[in-house]
Amino acid sequence: MEAIRVSGLDGSAIAVHLNGATVTEWKNQRSDNAFFVSERSEWQEGRPIRGGIPLAFPQFAGDGPLPNHGLARTLPWTVAEQATGYIQLCLQESAASRELWPYAFDATYSVTFNASSFSSVLEITNPHARAAGSAMQFQALQHTYYQLDAVTTLQLSGLEGRTFLDKLTGKSPKQAPMTPLTIQAETDAIFVPSQNPRPVLLQLEGAPVIWNPWIAKSAAMADFGDEEYQHMVCIEPGCVSQPVTLEPGATFRLEQHITLLVC
Ligand code: BG6
Repeated sequence: MEAIRVSGLDGSAIAVHLNGATVTEWKNQRSDNAFFVSERSEWQEGRPIRGGIPLAFPQFAGDGPLPNHGLARTLPWTVAEQATGYIQLCLQESAASRELWPYAFDATYSVTFNASSFSSVLEITNPHARAAGSAMQFQALQHTYYQLDAVTTLQLSGLEGRTFLDKLTGKSPKQAPMTPLTIQAETDAIFVPSQNPRPVLLQLEGAPVIWNPWIAKSAAMADFGDEEYQHMVCIEPGCVSQPVTLEPGATFRLEQHITLLVC
């Protein structure tokens, strides 16, 4: 499977795969890779990579008739631009995408990084002329897998008291505790947008999905090691509980900014 390595300033680097525009590595001042990638990932064209930052578009896991998380993470993207610390990939509608989803779209994914910060921006444009075509509706998510020493020591602040939909209990709304969020069991939580989002650990804002498969689900996943849940968490910024409606000629932008805090 083809991977592109991009070098950045101060010894930083990323690896990104054309399969799904999936970033699988960010080498920074702290570690050789900030992102978790499973030892059991399939690495096959047309299959999702288990780790890094798969892109979910136009449908979130299990929310409709498309394959889990839609089509963007398994189609071949192309490189539009590349420079030191920067790469932009693109994907347009094709026969393969139309087979799954009958809409025209132009997508770009732009990654800018150095040794202490990483930004990735997914843009989706409805290419019809204004007032000519029809609006399209979709969900979109950057499904970021973080590499951790031990998930049980993770403390996520910034989501205190926020409302989330719990996928494990049928998406019933729940309130997050007023203390930092910890992960001590299987977690599949879709946060709903808030009027006053506060930055979450790792400089994330907005309404993320938080996911860790824990013991039983890890054992049931063919492309994920049985013990690997202990060393990862997914914090996935995106629009899930409120899908996006994109008018003809309009562009939707989903930004993710990760900043390393120096201790
Ligand atoms: C998360 C979902 O975003 O992705 C979970 O909330 C899902 O429900 C997980 O299990 C992994 O999905 P997939 O398709 O990569 O196995």
